[in-house]
Amino acid sequence: MPTGTDRRAPVRVRLDPYGPVLVEGPVEIEMPDGTTVSSDRFMVALCACRRSRRYPFCDTSHRRKPRREPAESS
Ligand code: FES
Repeated sequence: MPTGTDRRAPVRVRLDPYGPVLVEGPVEIEMPDGTTVSSDRFMVALCACRRSRRYPFCDTSHRRKPRREPAESS
């Protein structure tokens, strides 16, 4: 079990194929514009669908409309 002083301990990240990326917190997220947002939560849900109004955090908007699978090329 990692401790607060063990900086080399791996951070567990869980990928939900139809939802957010779940990251063990606390986290600091560097945004493309250079700003930083943070969360002190034990588990942080990061939006992977880009529908969240609280981006980069998941607000469960991914549940409203299923993502379409890419069309198969023939
Ligand atoms: S993954 Fe939940 S709102 Fe985008």
